[in-house]
Amino acid sequence: MKIISNPFELKEYLKNKNETVGFVPTMGALHEGHISLIKKAKEQNELVVVSVFLNPTQFLKGEDLDTYPKKDEADKHICKLSGVDILFFPKAEDIYGDDEVTINAPKVRGFVLEGNSRPSHFNGVLTVVMKLLNIVNPTRAYFGKKDAQQLNLISLMVKQLFMSVEIVAVDTVRESGGLALSSRNAYLSVHERQEALKISASLHSASMMVSKKILDSKEIVKKMREILSPLEIFYVEVLNRDFEQISHVEIGNTVILVEVKVGTTRLLDNIWL
Ligand code: PAJ
Repeated sequence: MKIISNPFELKEYLKNKNETVGFVPTMGALHEGHISLIKKAKEQNELVVVSVFLNPTQFLKGEDLDTYPKKDEADKHICKLSGVDILFFPKAEDIYGDDEVTINAPKVRGFVLEGNSRPSHFNGVLTVVMKLLNIVNPTRAYFGKKDAQQLNLISLMVKQLFMSVEIVAVDTVRESGGLALSSRNAYLSVHERQEALKISASLHSASMMVSKKILDSKEIVKKMREILSPLEIFYVEVLNRDFEQISHVEIGNTVILVEVKVGTTRLLDNIWL
């Protein structure tokens, strides 16, 4: 596995390669969720590039940028064992300069849900993803469905800016109890980990209701809120795949999203129905 930290060096290295390139952008502290993206990229491409970059611009003031788990050596090891060809490991100064051109998230879809409680978060995500895609110029790039709004906005950016990469959505990987894997799970105490199970339990109950033909969004949200109580809820929403509110679940075109605070940790999850 080759480790490269300089964007120009990586561009140069990839320039004359004729192979298909699968790209998996991450912020490190890799877990099985990230590994499933890497596996998918390996299945579908001849060359796999992973980036580990804790992107400062997607964190708001007072958020967990300084305490975000950092596991550089373990990440390198995981990438090597997973068969990654190139690990891109830049520093902030390799990616950002002064007085930067930035991408603005769309005014509606970028500022609801997570974008409502974290305004400017998605500007940072889209800007760094644009930079990373321009550096790697992959055939396909892999993103988790767990971050459904991020996936939706990146797909929208690629479409609206006429970019030629294919965005591949990958299913959420969960612990056996149902908790979706996340680098931020490392913040949870034993008790909080137990409380966090309410998130997947609420989503499970929503899918059970739908399987019993209870499709009314209000009814589903009410039940989910009951299960999530007394956690602090940022949102519980039933949306279509274009992220518009719908009064009834439309099978094959619905995503139900939850974001809550467990202790001091924000956790999000969703199901696609
Ligand atoms: P990060 O949180 O490290 O996640 C990297 C990728 O892994 C994202 O596409 C995310 O959706 C996916 N992922 C995380 N947990 C997952 C799980 N349990 N199952 C499946 N996939 C999972 O998301 C980011 O980094 C950043 O915003 C980034 C896109 C890298 C831009 O900085």
